[in-house]
Amino acid sequence: MYGMINRAVKDLIVERFGADTWDRIRHKAGVTETEFLSMEQYDDATTYSLVAASSEELGVSAEEILQAFGEYWIEYTGAAGYGEIMRAAGNSLPEFLGNLDQLHTRIRFGMPQLRPPSFRVSEEADGSLLLRYTSHREGLAPLVVGLVKGLAKRFGETAEVSLISPRSETQSYDEFRVVRSPRETATSSMG
Ligand code: HEM
Repeated sequence: MYGMINRAVKDLIVERFGADTWDRIRHKAGVTETEFLSMEQYDDATTYSLVAASSEELGVSAEEILQAFGEYWIEYTGAAGYGEIMRAAGNSLPEFLGNLDQLHTRIRFGMPQLRPPSFRVSEEADGSLLLRYTSHREGLAPLVVGLVKGLAKRFGETAEVSLISPRSETQSYDEFRVVRSPRETATSSMG
């Protein structure tokens, strides 16, 4: 994945737990780089190792790390020079989710080797959303949960996101149900 992802993982850890914790995580993950270049490609294994090492070091599950990272990513990209692309993707959660493929297509202009995910969204009669996520990668469903929660927050809502139908040999996508409500005070296990 592009270095921008690993950079954001580092920033999240340093911001919340400090530079010493990050150094221990980096060593545990066997990562020799002290900085990641946003526009350079790194093996996916680097990112997965950082997540596993963070989980060990912080004593929380890899799923929680991925979810916290997903929420963080929404604020991070808004501030990291991608604010305009984020704004252009929509003014409501369903609109934004419907434009995610277009958003990654725009990002591909600057990152030609991007292997982006693909999303389909539909609105149910009860007001909930069904979201289908197709990916070249394994194990990132918890990341999507955090991303969607982060997006809901961006639009002044909270979202409960459940994986209702995981991808399998006969189904190429993960399917989530997203139940929205106006924002209350949100808590996260990673503070
Ligand atoms: C302007 C904002 C964004 C930027 C710059 C961005 C960029 C990226 C980059 C660089 C990757 C790594 C893929 C690779 O290197 O091959 C990625 C992956 C991903 N992005 Fe985005 N993204 C943005 C917004 C979003 C949003 C809002 C979502 C919400 C659902 C999202 C969902 C994902 C997911 C789930 C992946 C994991 C890749 C996979 O499943 O293979 N992204 N994105």
